Amino acid sequence: MKTVAVVGTQWGDEGKGKIVDLLAADADIVVRFQGGNNAAHTLVVGGEKFILRLVPAGALHEGKVCVIGNGTVVDPIALIEELDKLRSHGCLTNDGTFKLASDAHMVMPYHRAIDRARETRLGGRAIGTTGFGIGPAYEDKMARCGLRFADLADFKSFSEKLERNLADKNLYLKAVLKAKPVGAAGLIEQMKTVRRRLMPYICDTAAYLDDAIANGRRVLFEGAHGTMLDIDHGTYPFVTSSSCLASAVFAGAGLAPGSLEAVLGITKAYTTRVGGGPFPTEIKGKLGDRLRTEGGEFGSATGRPRRIGWFDAVLTRQAARLNGVWGLAVTKLDILTGIDPLKICVAYEIKGKRCERMPPGDLVTHKIKPIYEELPGWREDTSDARAFGDLPANARRYLKRLSELSDVEIAMVGVGAAREATIVLNNPFLN
Ligand code: IMP
Ligand code: MG
Repeated sequence: MKTVAVVGTQWGDEGKGKIVDLLAADADIVVRFQGGNNAAHTLVVGGEKFILRLVPAGALHEGKVCVIGNGTVVDPIALIEELDKLRSHGCLTNDGTFKLASDAHMVMPYHRAIDRARETRLGGRAIGTTGFGIGPAYEDKMARCGLRFADLADFKSFSEKLERNLADKNLYLKAVLKAKPVGAAGLIEQMKTVRRRLMPYICDTAAYLDDAIANGRRVLFEGAHGTMLDIDHGTYPFVTSSSCLASAVFAGAGLAPGSLEAVLGITKAYTTRVGGGPFPTEIKGKLGDRLRTEGGEFGSATGRPRRIGWFDAVLTRQAARLNGVWGLAVTKLDILTGIDPLKICVAYEIKGKRCERMPPGDLVTHKIKPIYEELPGWREDTSDARAFGDLPANARRYLKRLSELSDVEIAMVGVGAAREATIVLNNPFLN
């Protein structure tokens, strides 16, 4: 298959970055199609740790083309910093290996200020956003007052729009949110730098991808966040502001429906979420702390401790259905070593009734009791396993059960942070 999307089946942080980085070896082009620098992928390559926020994870492979599609919102300053860091590591040094959609929207300092001021104002009802201004930037896109990279071409008109937006946003910040306004000084100068630095990469990425696909190039679409953070199908209002499903590839990269051949769903062997909102299988106390420490479950974008829970098959079934998942990549299996017994949530009990699917509406308003199945754990170290048969019998049993309950075949299993620490059962690009 030549066009493959990778999406998260939980609340993000499933380890998509590692899988994208691995698959990028067999792809020609890697594309981001939604979200912004609220996403963060931690990758370990050659023993070195990289955190990517905006640039697709293909950047760590020489010669791959990295594309940021029109469905994203991009903080241009954060992008420049990320590009500089990658270049200092010898990545993306060839001309033409990075492309930025002219129609992608920019995240401005006033978006960040609004995001943070709103969260403060919400207090105990806060969403727990990453504070990077993603929601307010998408709001402006829909309100049709957003600034796009294409606008930089005519800098005079760009500056006028920016000043108008800034004046409006500052009124809102001061009068409604009771927050400090954003200073205008320096912003226009900063945008001149943005223009100079980013103009060479700005292009019609949808047309570029269309040509590339017609020419038989292999394209990998890198989803950010996860299905449960999707603006429509996630645990609203505790969600992000973009569509995180595989279907977002079509709008967010300008691909025609039907041209996506496979969707790989990434799922952690347990569940995590960062920020507020319902979490039916949450584990509190010592066991949760142990998994958090062993799994390094602290947000890559914000450093916040992630909440930990048992594997929830209701979520993965839902994600499999919404995304048309072809195969599952189960990550961080090694973290479960030594935990016995292991629990898997197979369904929910709501008002005494067994529910196989998530209830419609707001999960918070439902009193959900997870229905668990217990499986025996394993003690053997799994980190050197490179084939399914190398895994302890109970680990294989656990994985088979996850697959049955999610109704999707397992394509990959992650047993460590490094690129190599992966069991590949089925690589969609080689299929
Ligand atoms: P926002 O995307 O910054 O608006 O945050 C909205 C919600 O999505 C918060 O609960 C964030 O913690 C969560 N979120 C956004 N991006 C990610 C991610 O990449 N991983 C995990 N949670 C995320
Ligand atoms: Mg992440």
